[in-house]
Amino acid sequence: MQHTNIPVITIDGPTASGKGTVAHKVADRLGFHYLDSGALYRLTALMAQRRNTDLHDEHALAKLAEHLPASFSGGEILLANENVTQAIRAEEVGTLASKIAALPSVRQALYALQLGFRKAPGLVADGRDMGTVIFPHAPLKVYLTASVQARAQRRYKQLIDKGFSANMEDLLSDLQARDDRDTQRAIAPLVPAEDARILDTSNMTADEAIEEVLKWYAHLKN
Ligand code: DC
Repeated sequence: MQHTNIPVITIDGPTASGKGTVAHKVADRLGFHYLDSGALYRLTALMAQRRNTDLHDEHALAKLAEHLPASFSGGEILLANENVTQAIRAEEVGTLASKIAALPSVRQALYALQLGFRKAPGLVADGRDMGTVIFPHAPLKVYLTASVQARAQRRYKQLIDKGFSANMEDLLSDLQARDDRDTQRAIAPLVPAEDARILDTSNMTADEAIEEVLKWYAHLKN
């Protein structure tokens, strides 16, 4: 059962659009909970990678998703008590996540888990289908995007800062491939919800994007 009186702000958008940073900070500023739904797909991917699960075995992948031994605390992500906050950010884990996210049984297995994040006083949910599928009645839906070049540059900086190696050309083609997969899959493709507000952050700082979302939310309440 969804607690429909608990407000949800959904922030969907393509990979490296900055939605993670924006969603997280908006949640902090409002004192809301935060759902990083991509992390659930990444955790499933990391488990599949470690267990050498056959990527054609949808049933086995859905089982991994259904019984994800994950916990989130203070910004850290644990998988069966191992801190995997950094490990799930690796590019290959993201690519694998994008592949298994196209499987209906995997999405179904993660559905109830995502609804469970809706707790008082409110939730900011970040992903691809937060406004279209998981929280279709959210009072504020944001579609955060940026040009592929701006996103590749951000991802490059993010990876280097975290100590991963990165190559700009590879990143651009990987982002493009990920966009194609996320937008063209049959189930829950990445598209703005009909009632979403579009925020193009190509020429915006993260702080400006955060202020814009907070302004939209404040107007909604008045
Ligand atoms: O947001 P992210 O890069 O951490 O997400 C990793 C992958 O997971 C992304 O390429 C597609 C998938 N995903 C999804 O299909 N639906 C979501 N709500 C969130 C992520």
